[in-house]
Amino acid sequence: MATVDTAERTSSVAGAKLKDRVALVTGGTRGIGAAICRSLANQGATVAAGYSRDKDRAETFLRELEQLEATASVHQGNVASAEDCKRTVNEVLEQYGRLDILVNNAGITVDKPVLKMADDDWYKVLAVNLSGAFFMSKVALEHMLERGTGRIVNISSIVGQMGNIGQTNYAASKSGMFGLTRSLAREAAANLQKSGKADEHGIGLTVNAVAPGFIETEMLDTVPEKVLDKIRSQIPLGRLGRPDEVARVVHFLSADASAYITGQVWAVNGGQDM
Ligand code: NAI
Repeated sequence: MATVDTAERTSSVAGAKLKDRVALVTGGTRGIGAAICRSLANQGATVAAGYSRDKDRAETFLRELEQLEATASVHQGNVASAEDCKRTVNEVLEQYGRLDILVNNAGITVDKPVLKMADDDWYKVLAVNLSGAFFMSKVALEHMLERGTGRIVNISSIVGQMGNIGQTNYAASKSGMFGLTRSLAREAAANLQKSGKADEHGIGLTVNAVAPGFIETEMLDTVPEKVLDKIRSQIPLGRLGRPDEVARVVHFLSADASAYITGQVWAVNGGQDM
C-alpha cells in the first residue's frame, strides 16, 4: 500500500509562498498549532508561536523550527486576557516590524453534559476559544488595516457545525467563530474600500475559518477509545485526521494568491459532515 509519511508530506509542500511574511499562531507549540507553524515556516514565513504555560516545550519547539532554517520565536500569553493578547501582538510587531498572518488556534475543552456543566466551565471555554480570537484579531487587525494587507485564519471545529453531546460550551464557542470570521471579513473589506487601500490585484485583507473534524492530538486524550471508535465509524474516510492535514489549508489561505477567498469556512474532516 502506498503511504505518505510526515517527512514526505512536509517536504512536498515546501516552497516560498510566504517568503517575507510574518505569522503569529496562538497555541502554536503543539498539536495542530505546531503543524501550522511548521507548514508556514516551510513556505518561508517567519513564525511567532504563542503558548500559554509550558516554557520548556515551547523552547524545544523553537529549536525544531530553527532546524527548518526558519526565523522563529515563542511568546507566552493567555489568550483569554485582552492585555496578554495586546502585549503578544506588540512583541511580534516590535521584533519583526510587521504581522501579515494571524492564526487563532488556541483552544480548550471542558466537556460535560449540559445539566452538569458549571457556569465557570461555560465561561472558561468561551473566554479562551472565542474571546481569545476576538482579542487577538482586534489588535492584529488595527495593524493590518493600516498596512492594507493581512490574513486572519480562525481554527473552529466540525463541532461548531454539527454540535456534540457533552460539548455545549465548546460547540457554542466554535460556532461563534463563524460569525466572528464573517463579520471581521466584511469589516476588513469595507474598511479597505473606504480607505482607498483595496487593490483589485493586491494581497488584500482576508479573514477565514478552518473547521477540522476529529484530529489526532492531545486534545483527544480525554476522549475514551470507545467514543473514538464510534466517531471513526461516522467518518467516510474511516480514520481521524492528522494535524498537518489541517495545516496545509491554513498555509493555502495565508498565501498572497488566496486574496479572493474571504469570510469562508473550510472543512477538513474526512467527509464527516456530508
Ligand atoms: P491541543 O490541546 O494540543 O492544543 C491547544 C493549544 O492551545 C495548546 O498549545 C495550548 O497551550 C493552547 N492554549 C490553551 N489555552 C490557552 C490559553 N488560555 N492561552 C493561550 N494558549 C492556550 O489541541 P489541538 O487539537 O492542537 O487544538 C488546536 C485547535 O484546533 C483548538 O482550537 C481546537 O479546538 C481545534 N480543533 C481540534 C480538533 C481535534 O480533534 N484535535 C478538532 C477541531 C478543532
